[in-house]
Amino acid sequence: MKLSLLNRRALIAKLGGGTAIAALPSEVLADALEHQLMDEAQYGPACAEVDIIKVGRDLRRGAGQVFDKTIVPQLYRMPQRPTLIDFFKLRFSNPTVAHCLKSAAHALADGQPERYVMTALVHDVALNLMKSDHAWWGADLVAPYVDDRIAWGIRHHQALRFYSDPETGYEYPELYHCVFGKEYEPEPYIADAYRHARDHEWYMEARMITLNDTYGFQPGAPPQIDAFTDIIGRNWRQPEEGLGFDGSPAAHMWRTLLNPERPL
Ligand SMILES: [Fe+2]
Ligand SMILES: [Fe+2]
Repeated sequence: MKLSLLNRRALIAKLGGGTAIAALPSEVLADALEHQLMDEAQYGPACAEVDIIKVGRDLRRGAGQVFDKTIVPQLYRMPQRPTLIDFFKLRFSNPTVAHCLKSAAHALADGQPERYVMTALVHDVALNLMKSDHAWWGADLVAPYVDDRIAWGIRHHQALRFYSDPETGYEYPELYHCVFGKEYEPEPYIADAYRHARDHEWYMEARMITLNDTYGFQPGAPPQIDAFTDIIGRNWRQPEEGLGFDGSPAAHMWRTLLNPERPL
């Protein structure tokens, strides 16, 4: 995956020009590029153009996107009993919203089971909260509100992204060569998660995420979240008290998303 010359110029302009960029911390630059790629991704072999990612390799990625004011500049007022759709409209970052909506739109257009559409819709929303091991966080975030197969699929998609599956047409992402290096071997826990998923009867729940995921990087405007209202209604157990206030094992994660500025 490469950043086109046009998008590169747009990114430089967005960051305030060459002089302003020189003064920016490397982690800000790395995040800015990642979002630009997620927004306007194009496939290609130009690893040299993503050197900016390597600059950010030492970046600690514990914090998700809602903690970064360059990505989520404004924390819109949320309703007292927020729903999943409220989070899509008012809290999640634009890059994750666009990525998930495009991924789900492909699953829908492809005629996949509705459960796969729902899975695609929420497969990466945990990136708003946490980057490292986002699939495990993502599974825990949605588990109280979805079919067990959806949470299971989300938990394992991160590992499956590192392993091609010619039978389904899934290929190792070019971008990973740039980000992790050509000789990269996934860590043992990732390999273990992959083997576990590969032999599991729910394997396709996770594999379909990796297939639909590639469509989440296509250029163009995403559909609106409202296009998925009925599917969410049938596949998401919205708590009456609102996300964050239902006492579920994930409630604290939704509260953190609601107010990432809370001191304690
Ligand atoms: Fe993911
Ligand atoms: Fe994704």
